[in-house]
Amino acid sequence: MADSWLDRADRALLGNYYPARLTLVRGEGCRVVDDAGRSYLDLVGGIAVNSLGHCHPAIVRAIREQCGTLMHVSNLYRTPWSVRLAEALVARFPGSRAFFCNSGAEANEAAIKLARRHARLAHGAGRHVVVSAEGSFHGRTFAALTATGQPKYREGFEPLVPGFRYVPFGDPAALEAAVTDDVCAVLLEPIQGESGVRVPPPGYLAGAAALCARRGALLALDEVQTGLGRTGTFLACEAEGVIPDVVTLSKSLGGGIPLGAMLARGEAAQAFAPGTHASTFGGNPVACAAALAFLEVLEADGLLARVRETGEWFMGALRELAARQPKILAVRGRGLLIAVDLAVPAKAVALAAEQRGYLINAVQEQALRFAPPFIVARQDLEDFLAALAEILDEIPVSGS
Ligand SMILES: Cc1ncc(COP(=O)(O)O)c(C=O)c1O
Repeated sequence: MADSWLDRADRALLGNYYPARLTLVRGEGCRVVDDAGRSYLDLVGGIAVNSLGHCHPAIVRAIREQCGTLMHVSNLYRTPWSVRLAEALVARFPGSRAFFCNSGAEANEAAIKLARRHARLAHGAGRHVVVSAEGSFHGRTFAALTATGQPKYREGFEPLVPGFRYVPFGDPAALEAAVTDDVCAVLLEPIQGESGVRVPPPGYLAGAAALCARRGALLALDEVQTGLGRTGTFLACEAEGVIPDVVTLSKSLGGGIPLGAMLARGEAAQAFAPGTHASTFGGNPVACAAALAFLEVLEADGLLARVRETGEWFMGALRELAARQPKILAVRGRGLLIAVDLAVPAKAVALAAEQRGYLINAVQEQALRFAPPFIVARQDLEDFLAALAEILDEIPVSGS
């Protein structure tokens, strides 16, 4: 018998990912299909990437057309697609200008470099510290990793990048104390995704913005996970009425093609002179054409309102389930970025869900995260909730 994909992956790929149980070969809408032909409702959505579902016809069309027109030329030259995409993003974050890269980590690296250079130009040397939050996740490249406020990801990679400081998330007094006159930027997720969809108290982000303005530091918001409609507004910070200096985006931006962006406003937008930062593939025409198609569908199909409505309904339904199922300890989130805390191991729940045809993400040992496509049908979520209720009945409480 031929070796399985698992055996082949085990021999050929580095061991940095937990071995996946499934080998997925096809996707359409909210469903993916494995190599045995089994179909799954995808409530992970490529970790908040497949916001229009899998292989959305408008994105497929845009990519196909672009591949037959122009695929890559480098940033030695301009192309219409990166200019159009920059205009589309600037229209949604007025007064900003865009830099394109390939991932969330790269977008955050760009933001950190921009903040340091901005401080150097505005205030001279000695103002280089970046303040970030405990529990945050900003990516795996060195500066993004250093900014990530979770020691488990940093361990073994020391020495890290100097000049980072951490504060408890959601604590305005701690932030106030940390932003001293050596700080060039505060980097925050509006809602912490990877640590289990942690929503800060109302007013926290607005307080951070006012503090940064007072102290001459930039407020950089990592909207890699929360942005582009995921939480029901184009940027999550809009829900709080907060206008940061810098925003980073990636995940769903390229409609499934790797693409990251950093948007900077005001003085911060002037900090990169020619030659100070770059990316070979940044602004790649295929990725930009896919992103333009994504933004068009987001608007034309009124998906922000749909995210809000579906998200509120789904969170309400999860809370109803929690009211009769004590193994659900808490439900939180915004739009279609939702987590539940459990009294049972999340991995056991995810495995049981997979066996019933549902992909869900065990984001923490006892927490599930849902980031489904914006187009997910209510009936599919109802069916999932019925399955979840049965699964939770069957799995014993951790430690019992
Ligand atoms: C908030 C946030 N920032 C940055 C990243 C890193 O993005 P990437 O994996 O594309 O480098 C992630 C990835 O999950 C994220 O959730």
